Amino acid sequence: MLYFDHSASTPIHPAVLNLMQELELNHFGNPSSVHRFGQKSRLDIEIARKQMADAIGCLPYEIIFTGGGTEANNLVLWNLIHQQKRHVITSAIEHPSVLSVLKRLKEFGVTSTIIPVDRTCRVNPEDIQNAITENTGLISIMFANNEVGTVQPVKHIGEIAEKNGIPFHSDAVQILGKFPINILDQNINMMSFSAHKFYGPKGTGVLYLKKGTELKSLVIGGGQERNLRAGTENPSCIAGLGFASELANKNIEKRKTHLEKLAEQFKQEMADVYPEIIYNGHPEYSLPGVICATFPAVTSNILVIKLDLHGIAVSSGSACSSGTVNPSHVLRAMNISNDNNIRTLRISFGRDNTEEDVHLLTEKISEILKQNRNKR
Ligand SMILES: Cc1ncc(COP(=O)(O)O)c(C=O)c1O
Repeated sequence: MLYFDHSASTPIHPAVLNLMQELELNHFGNPSSVHRFGQKSRLDIEIARKQMADAIGCLPYEIIFTGGGTEANNLVLWNLIHQQKRHVITSAIEHPSVLSVLKRLKEFGVTSTIIPVDRTCRVNPEDIQNAITENTGLISIMFANNEVGTVQPVKHIGEIAEKNGIPFHSDAVQILGKFPINILDQNINMMSFSAHKFYGPKGTGVLYLKKGTELKSLVIGGGQERNLRAGTENPSCIAGLGFASELANKNIEKRKTHLEKLAEQFKQEMADVYPEIIYNGHPEYSLPGVICATFPAVTSNILVIKLDLHGIAVSSGSACSSGTVNPSHVLRAMNISNDNNIRTLRISFGRDNTEEDVHLLTEKISEILKQNRNKR
């Protein structure tokens, strides 16, 4: 099996899995218990908090563990109902855990301005500046897009937010291990992360909450996570997240080079076999190893299924449900025609992929395209 869908999820790092197994077996106490069983679990969580804080350059106090990226985004957005200023500025290419929440929040009097993107999937910070009203209580713009890989001008947006005294949240779920972050360089108040995107466990995430930024808990119960996320913590998963965040930043430049090389190899090989291919995204501001490519000759669901039959995993830019292909809202926002939208694949390389794997991938794609041509 060849796996090229690391933007959807990454396989767990073996060292992270070892640690989690060890803790699951031996550190099973409730982290809120006073006895030493509880203390061991508490310590695991606090070590992870420090590791995650170091990975992004913030204080451990500013790390709130959540049940994933979706929950971290929800935690930020649902707070709008407690605010007087209930207007949000966001972009057309956000993950559904932002856009769908904003749709629901309309029922609670929350309004939003959805900023468009250009053909490369980038927002223009000037549009954000122009959308600010007296009632704007939040700016939420993702750091890098999950379907296309384009990285947003987050620093510039943060400056606008700060100048106007508006809290700035960024969904940074796709970036750890691919893009070095130092929170101190950015004017960001809140940032969402998800462990399964950086070789950690699923169902575990983080909200970075800048000291001084106030939030109310979405999940109410015990006082865990400074009263911001009630419920008994999952120490082994949190420890796995912490360790994975440490590993993600180790050799980051080497990993970036590796991913970029694989993407370049893919493009070179495809140029020979299928010059009609169209690459989407930004040529410079992009995550390493993420390819969003349109194959005008074939719909992406056919390619995904046929590659799967050869044991190769990639994903289509568009969600496929009940036999129909729905065009992706991200590609649509980039002004890509519906026809090309449903002919677009996302290939996202990971740390274990090799040049040989990429060669097999291009070979199989070429074979499928040839069969498809012969049929027509
Ligand atoms: C950009 C982005 N935000 C949020 C999420 C949701 O994260 P999780 O799967 O941890 O809920 C994802 C996952 O695909 C994502 O890519």
